[in-house]
Amino acid sequence: MLLELKQLKKQFKENHVLKGIDLSVNKGEVIVIIGPSGSGKTTLLRNINFLETADSGTMAFRDQQIDLSRPTKEQILWVRRHTAMVFQNYNLFKNKTALENISEGLVFGQGKSKLEADELAEKALDQVGLLDKKGFYPSQLSGGQQQRIGIARATVLNPDIVLFDEPTSALDPELVGTVLHDMKQLADQGQTMIVVTHQMSFARNVASRVAFFADGEILETGRPDEIFDHPQHERTQQFLSAIAEDY
Ligand SMILES: Nc1ncnc2c1ncn2[C@@H]1O[C@H](COP(=O)(O)OP(=O)(O)OP(=O)(O)O)[C@@H](O)[C@H]1O
Ligand SMILES: [Mg+2]
Repeated sequence: MLLELKQLKKQFKENHVLKGIDLSVNKGEVIVIIGPSGSGKTTLLRNINFLETADSGTMAFRDQQIDLSRPTKEQILWVRRHTAMVFQNYNLFKNKTALENISEGLVFGQGKSKLEADELAEKALDQVGLLDKKGFYPSQLSGGQQQRIGIARATVLNPDIVLFDEPTSALDPELVGTVLHDMKQLADQGQTMIVVTHQMSFARNVASRVAFFADGEILETGRPDEIFDHPQHERTQQFLSAIAEDY
């Protein structure tokens, strides 16, 4: 087991957003989280890398056991060093080039020399087919290109797990495929990931397991065919039939 959450709870004022999440992730697995808006999917990812602090719960990650409500500074840094997050809105540095956006973390996060960092960054850009854009600033790139650079930036750090939060939802429809293609490639290389997405065909084709999330709970988890073809929970059936997409 690479990562195991137990009874993760989080509330904002009276709003119980996460009601006791149990989730385990094995090395190499792609866990896809689907579920309605406002159900707590983003909050879950943010609790895993301490952008939010849980009210209670534990996380076992690699060989460490962490109390999510009282992480030490060292634990927070350690988790962040071994995880990466890809957001909906790319979050690239606007005043840095594509190459610098990727190499930065290698220099400042991992203490690599500028030369070595640039080499690794170029390799990462090449992998997503954007080496020719290395000197471009985010404003000179399409949303899809920015997001693929965001993915290259996350994975160049060689994280144990990558957390994706709706990485394609801000993109024009014709750009979605390129980003999903990069994500599939990563999955095929054995990268462990948790992906929140509304792209049901990606979930069906790439997920090792799909978790259906509603009202702060995981209502059911299973292989894609189990969830999509034989959902057990009425709420899952409702959600899937409300989606106007083939999957
Ligand atoms: N920092 C915050 N302060 C107060 N409430 C918050 C905060 N962050 C999230 N919430 C609330 O938590 C609930 C879950 O939000 P969250 O963003 O996790 O949902 P989601 O499943 O990611 O939705 P979507 O599919 O629309 O992205 C919402 O009711 C939201 O208003
Ligand atoms: Mg969200």
